[in-house]
Amino acid sequence: MSILSGKNILLGISAGIAAYKTATLVRVFIKAGANVKVVMTPASKDFVTPLTLSTLSKNPVHSSFYNEDDENAEWNNHVELGLWADYFLVAPATANTLSKMANGTCDNLLLATYLSAKCPVYFAPAMDLDMYIHPSTTSTFSKLESFGNIMIPATSGELASGLVGQGRLAEPEDIVAFIEADILKSLPLKGKQVLITAGPTYEALDPVRFIGNHSSGKMGFEIAKAAANLGAEIILITGPTHQKVKHSLIQVIPVFSAQDMYDAAHQFFNTVDVAILSAAVADYRPKEISTSKIKKKGETLTLELEKTKDILASLGAIKTKQLLVGFALETDNELEYAKGKLKKKNLDLIVLNSLRDKGAGFKTDTNKVTIIDNKNNINAYQLKSKAEVAIDILSVITQKLNA
Ligand code: CTP
Repeated sequence: MSILSGKNILLGISAGIAAYKTATLVRVFIKAGANVKVVMTPASKDFVTPLTLSTLSKNPVHSSFYNEDDENAEWNNHVELGLWADYFLVAPATANTLSKMANGTCDNLLLATYLSAKCPVYFAPAMDLDMYIHPSTTSTFSKLESFGNIMIPATSGELASGLVGQGRLAEPEDIVAFIEADILKSLPLKGKQVLITAGPTYEALDPVRFIGNHSSGKMGFEIAKAAANLGAEIILITGPTHQKVKHSLIQVIPVFSAQDMYDAAHQFFNTVDVAILSAAVADYRPKEISTSKIKKKGETLTLELEKTKDILASLGAIKTKQLLVGFALETDNELEYAKGKLKKKNLDLIVLNSLRDKGAGFKTDTNKVTIIDNKNNINAYQLKSKAEVAIDILSVITQKLNA
């Protein structure tokens, strides 16, 4: 999964021959998991058709303030488009469109949308080599950069004119990689390593049976995705779950038992900045694991269990610079028990969920948490989706790291 996954990309196309590359550009964004809408200058439709772009983006493509061919034409709302976008990219950006952007000219839908957009704006120029280095053009680039717009420089090579030099639109894959890297650079957890445990553990009884629990792993996976979206590199140690994640910043380490999870957590703990232990680790495991299937014999079967190692407490005992976050799932005396665990396990934060709250805990898509820190600050949150809870947890962690 790319950092662009789920993000809204508005692609503005102006009238240069390189507009033919935008079909590929839309595909690369879609492949990265982004939602794409396209706005075109009227003249750019001579170089690439709106039908191609609407088919690839799966969204209508607009180039005027209303659709002239449609007798029930609706106004194409540039403000709405501008606000929809998480990122606005103008590619290819011609000298004409760039100059108009720099000077506030607003004579087409693309330019009106540019003036309405509050999101980061990227522009990828494409033009002939002499146009590219003309003082008028370079001062336009500087003016746009002074507005905070980000330039994706043209590359060198053979140009449509037959001349060779700088002015070629950057390749679609390189444009997307440029934007991904630029977003990552400014993310609050960029360069931080985060260890996360998730899911249940299974404790074997014999070759076919185990003792487990109902943890879905969803909370831990959502935390991993949210942290990766903030730029962190994640080591996600997970017990057996149906959760799936594919993200360039998330390394998944599958484990089975509490002991496997303990070993993996200790293998990585030294190098991480943050550890978030959300797994529902078995507290006890069978003392003996039978090497052959246990046969049905008497009316009852007594199993002897022994304690597993407490992973969280063991990390609390050795932590140095790491910010250590634990979870507490309680049914009664919630705050008191959670504060007790925070202290006993030497944590920086504990995330409490009570099974008395409807919609909290295992197997649900929602959670209701209270976050307590080691200075006894207590923040109680509303019932939210686990994805939103993950964002809340990471916002507290980010504040702590920056404090
Ligand atoms: N935890 C752990 N290793 C264990 C047990 C728990 O790392 N062997 C972690 C969990 O991932 C969670 C926290 O400890 O972050 C609290 O788990 P919980 O089961 O609520 O608490 P326990 O300490 O096991 O206490 P109890 O079950 O008695 O409430």
